[in-house]
Amino acid sequence: MTIRLTDLGKAVLETEYAVRGPIVARAGELEKQGREIIYCNIGNPQSLGQPALTWNRQILALCEYPALMELAPGTFPADAIETAKAILAGTKHGLGAYSESRGVRFIREAVAEFILERDHIGVDPDAIFLTDGASKGVQTILRLLISGPQDGIMVPIPQYPLYSATITLYEGRMVPYFLDEANGWKLSRTMLEEAMDQAKAQGTQVKAICVINPGNPTGAVLDEANIAMIIDFAKAHGLSILADEVYQENIYLAGDEFTSFAKVLHQVEAKDVSLFSFHSCSKGFLGECGVRGGYFEYRNVPEDVAAQILKLQSVSLCANLPGQTATFAMVRPPKPGMPSYPIYAAEKGAILDSLKQRAILLAEGLNRIEGISCNVVAGAMYAFPNIKLPPGRTDAEYSMALLEKTGICVVPGSGFGQAEGTAHFRTTILPPVEKLRKVVEALAEFHLNYR
Ligand SMILES: Cc1ncc(COP(=O)(O)O)c(C=O)c1O
Repeated sequence: MTIRLTDLGKAVLETEYAVRGPIVARAGELEKQGREIIYCNIGNPQSLGQPALTWNRQILALCEYPALMELAPGTFPADAIETAKAILAGTKHGLGAYSESRGVRFIREAVAEFILERDHIGVDPDAIFLTDGASKGVQTILRLLISGPQDGIMVPIPQYPLYSATITLYEGRMVPYFLDEANGWKLSRTMLEEAMDQAKAQGTQVKAICVINPGNPTGAVLDEANIAMIIDFAKAHGLSILADEVYQENIYLAGDEFTSFAKVLHQVEAKDVSLFSFHSCSKGFLGECGVRGGYFEYRNVPEDVAAQILKLQSVSLCANLPGQTATFAMVRPPKPGMPSYPIYAAEKGAILDSLKQRAILLAEGLNRIEGISCNVVAGAMYAFPNIKLPPGRTDAEYSMALLEKTGICVVPGSGFGQAEGTAHFRTTILPPVEKLRKVVEALAEFHLNYR
């Protein structure tokens, strides 16, 4: 007898991941029938035409196939060759061998320097783990924290479904806290305390709070005061913090800047709050989603717990080596004066400028549609507009109808969570400018008729 659905665990069956849910499956069917689909459902930049950075690909190519250094003399700039040689020496055995469980030390040291340069704080390379994308790191830490069905993890609403899905899979409890749509999706202490009170009343033992900054799907960028408030809240309730900072390079408004939780934790001297920070090669201006590179760094974690993290990580031996290599390329870009710098700076600038242009175009376009309102897309790669629906209709129905009518594939707000009585959808800002204009036009027409 083959395996049956009833053989599977409840947690597996209940796990949901809206970003690749039924609407995306339908989009695939329509595409097979020859319809043009514009995939706005997932933050996968290179699938929508964003080019990879030359620096990253040269380093990857040379590390994957070092013979290129001799076979193609003059093809690669001296700094790329030098960097690839240094990485290969750091790995000792090249990309085909397992590394130590935390990841290649040489690469972790480069990550530590990157954090030091960004935040001007001390960093321990042994508190850094290289991971297969940020997702794997988040899953490791949630696995560590959830010890039984009474354990709760605070997750923003709306949230990125990695969190809800993983908490369900590990049979913990999701403790939703609302982001304040009327206040640019910022976190408010009142809303956090309300969520905590409610969780306690239900007998939930809250272990940690997850924060996504810049926000997915909201696009909000938290300032230092907001982060200090969250740290203070975590301290007051004995929570660990998971800071998902994969969009730290995606900041679009003049005057805004990325502030890391690690930096503020250091400033407020919160030595009794454990922090896990995540970063990735998938977002920013690299968009190397398929390469699966990333890392997490922890602070204020006692040695016996750190040993458990190492043990968990060692079960899967190590993160993939090309992903580790891409992480090196991310944290150690060419500097001014190096041969690769002009191309690197031009490519990076062009991608970030275009993302910024698209963030503005999309939010402004959506706000021109009667019945749709959208906060400024200050960061990340998404808009999460509020939509007025005819009575009795859901945003899942709306998103499916939008797909059928226009070929635009978005994710309904219900996949991320939203305040009762509101409806949203999430779209990425990633289609090229001309396509994005068409998306806005088609949406306007669709929305008018849908109402
Ligand atoms: C907030 C957030 N965290 C983590 C991830 C996963 O990134 P990675 O590709 O590094 O696993 C994503 C991907 O979209 C994301 O939006």
